[in-house]
Amino acid sequence: MTDENIIRNVSVKDDGILDNSIRPEVIDEYIGQTEVKENIKVFIEAAKMREEALDHVLLYGPPGLGKTTLAYIIANEMGTNIKTASGPSIEKSGDLAAVLSSLEPGDVLFIDEIHRMPKFIEEILYPAMEDFTLDIIIGNEGNSKNIKIDLPPFTLVGATTRAGDLTSPLRDRFGIVSKLQFYTVDELTEIVKRTSRVLDTTIEDEAAIELASRSRGTPRIANRLLKRVRDFALVEGNGVIDKKITDMALDRLKVDKQGLDATDHLLLSTIIDKFNGGPVGVDAISSSIGEEVSTIEDVCEPYLLQTGILKRTSRGRIVTELGYKALGIPYNN
Ligand SMILES: Nc1ncnc2c1ncn2[C@@H]1O[C@H](COP(=O)(O)OP(=O)(O)O)[C@@H](O)[C@H]1O
Ligand SMILES: [Mg+2]
Repeated sequence: MTDENIIRNVSVKDDGILDNSIRPEVIDEYIGQTEVKENIKVFIEAAKMREEALDHVLLYGPPGLGKTTLAYIIANEMGTNIKTASGPSIEKSGDLAAVLSSLEPGDVLFIDEIHRMPKFIEEILYPAMEDFTLDIIIGNEGNSKNIKIDLPPFTLVGATTRAGDLTSPLRDRFGIVSKLQFYTVDELTEIVKRTSRVLDTTIEDEAAIELASRSRGTPRIANRLLKRVRDFALVEGNGVIDKKITDMALDRLKVDKQGLDATDHLLLSTIIDKFNGGPVGVDAISSSIGEEVSTIEDVCEPYLLQTGILKRTSRGRIVTELGYKALGIPYNN
């Protein structure tokens, strides 16, 4: 795969042009994640004062919490270019070598889903991250030689939903490791209001709060729901997003009062109905509801665990009393 293809693959996977236009570009517009943000600000400032590349950064956390956004902001704040690639799109060592050798001093190389990069390719990253050298073997068996190429200092920003899937030699080479957290309703309300301004849509305060509280702590979901509610406001209202339109639209989108969506409901009610509330293993849940294990673990579960609706034990998943309550099902141990 060529360098260009790798880059294109990433943009196809992202949420589209509208999504890019609502992405904050500077760190002060990045709402919430206060601790991560304040630390990164210091590291950026220090790197700039020393006129060095920023140390490598690993961002991890559930999908939609702002990892890609933050990677772009880092490059922007450092005043450098960003080159992007994604773990699964790097198939051969030559793919990574091509990206690495295209870097200019100080550039940010963003590798999304870095845990899905093949392990034999990971090894090329070690000397690149540590000494800014590229060790490659050229030629074929019997007639091959090792060459070392110097790379300019650069910053690798890796993003992953599964920090646990990274090998420890890779994880250890990141000087800055930051975990992104779910957002509070206040933070999401601010994000919803900001996005409405960017989209040139009027939203009432009460409506913004309602949307925020039904967004599973996740900016991507908040923005997505906002776009849909905006459609309802336009077609079935006067274009202004008020509380009434918001409630109606979210109900029609099957997003409940706590932000749980149809998949969450299916997952929880399956554990309750078919497995007596658990404990049940994720494989059994996966085949019952027809979702991949990785989707259940990376997309559905983090929020359910965080809110205490679901519990993970050594014997499997359990729906808690809170979970029964969320679904309106009577709980009896
Ligand atoms: N802290 C934030 N402040 C404002 N908007 C945010 C923030 N984090 C994420 N977003 C919005 O949410 C969307 C998803 O973020 P993204 O960076 O793509 O998440 P991830 O890469 O973690 O899956 C982006 O389009 C962005 O507009
Ligand atoms: Mg992303």
